[in-house]
Amino acid sequence: MAWVLMLAALAQPAQADGGQDVLKAGTGREQVTSRCQTCHSLDYIEMNAGVLDRAGWEKSVNKMIDVMHAPIPKDEVPAIVEYLSRSYGR
Ligand code: HEC
Repeated sequence: MAWVLMLAALAQPAQADGGQDVLKAGTGREQVTSRCQTCHSLDYIEMNAGVLDRAGWEKSVNKMIDVMHAPIPKDEVPAIVEYLSRSYGR
């Protein structure tokens, strides 16, 4: 019986994490959350936290638009890059 409880306990964090992506607070967060989550989870952003600098984030966002065909208006790019480099920049 004890092992069943242990399994249940182990399963908990994974469930609680599922679908609950929350980015750091800041101007532009809503935009990034809505624009970047349509194709993949926001984990992609957290994975690159502290790895990409501003130029790196700008390149990444443009890659999403140019290569992945992300439907993000070009005039929103500066605000998105600003948020990403401020909150997740190197
Ligand atoms: C149109 C779909 C789409 C949208 C919208 C999108 N992405 Fe992506 N993104 C992808 C795909 C597909 C990959 C996986 C590419 C690969 O594995 O090479 C990816 C991968 C990534 C990666 C991993 C590194 C890389 O370059 O492969 C990062 C970081 C990333 N996306 C950030 C973002 C950010 C930030 C936004 C919002 C500005 C965004 N994505 C919006 C499709 C999208």
